[in-house]
Amino acid sequence: LNTPVSDLLGRRRSVRSFLPRSVETGILDQIFAAAARAPSGGNIQPWSIVCITEPDRRARLCELVGNQPWVRNAPVTLLFCIDFHRTRQWARIESAPYQAEQSLTSFLIAYADVYCAAHNVTIAAEDLGLGTVYVGTVLSSIPEIRRAFALPELVVPIVALCVGYPRRRPAGIPKLAVEALVHREQYRTAADDQVRQWYLDKYGDLDQTLTGYFERTYQEIREIEDQEKPGSIEQVRRIVARLEIANSAQFLFKFRYPGSRMKLLNQPLWDALQGAGFRFDVT
Ligand SMILES: Cc1cc2nc3c(=O)[nH]c(=O)nc-3n(C[C@H](O)[C@H](O)[C@H](O)COP(=O)(O)O)c2cc1C
Repeated sequence: LNTPVSDLLGRRRSVRSFLPRSVETGILDQIFAAAARAPSGGNIQPWSIVCITEPDRRARLCELVGNQPWVRNAPVTLLFCIDFHRTRQWARIESAPYQAEQSLTSFLIAYADVYCAAHNVTIAAEDLGLGTVYVGTVLSSIPEIRRAFALPELVVPIVALCVGYPRRRPAGIPKLAVEALVHREQYRTAADDQVRQWYLDKYGDLDQTLTGYFERTYQEIREIEDQEKPGSIEQVRRIVARLEIANSAQFLFKFRYPGSRMKLLNQPLWDALQGAGFRFDVT
C-alpha cells in the first residue's frame, strides 16, 4: 500500500523527546476535533480529555506516573478519562434511568471508546507534524490523579498522551510479523519453534552489551538516560546481569513487567474504581 494514511501509519513512532515549543491553539483544536469524531459504542461518548499545559501541573502528573520525564517535558499532556459523570448528569436532567456505573460491559466499552479517541489523536497529531506517546502508568495512581485534576465521581483517568513537536524520533521499532498476529478463519496454535522464531525476528538477540537491544526496543531507557538520569542504562545492565536475564522474554517478564509485581496492582486498581463510584457487583 502506498497511500497518505499507510505512509503515516508506517512512519508513526512513539516520541518521548520534544522541542520546548508550545502547541498552537488552532492545532490543539484540530486534535480535539479528531478525538470527538472517533467511533464510540452506541455513540454515547462517555469520555473526557483534560488538557494539561501548565508546567506545575505537568510536573505533578509526571510524579504521579512514575517520573517519566516526557510527561514533564512535553508542552501538552492529554489525560483521557472514562466519564460517566457527564452522561449520568444528562440522564438525570432528562429523567432517564442510569446504572451504567454498575455494568462491567459499559465500562469496557467506555475503555475502548477512550482508546478510539486517543488513537485518533495520535494519528491526527502525526499528520500535523507533532509526536505523541501514550503513558499507561496512569492506572497505578488513579486516586491521586483524580484529586490532582479535580475529577469528580465516575470520572477515571485511563491513559495520558504526551503531545509536542518532536526533537527526535526513534529510527525504528520492531513489530511482530503479520503472520504471527493473524489467524485465517480460526485460531491455530503455532509450533514452539515457530513462535520462538517470530519473537527472535522481532527483537533480535539480547546482545552482551544490550546497546543494540536498548536502541531497538527500549527507547524509554535511552530517553531517561538523556533527559533526566544519566547512569540509568548502566543500572539496567547491572540488574539484567544480576537476574541472569538471557533473552527478550525474560527481559520483559522477569525485569520490566514481572507478573508478581503487576498483580499487586489488582487490589489498588479495584479500590480506585470503587472509590470513583463504580460498582461491578454480581449480586
Ligand atoms: C496502552 C499503552 C500504554 C503505554 N504506556 C507507556 C508508558 O507508560 N510509557 C512510555 O514511555 N510508553 C508507553 N507506551 C508506548 C509504548 O512503549 C510503545 O507504543 C511501544 O514501545 C511501541 O512503540 P511505537 O509506539 O513507536 O510503535 C504505551 C503504549 C500503549 C499502547
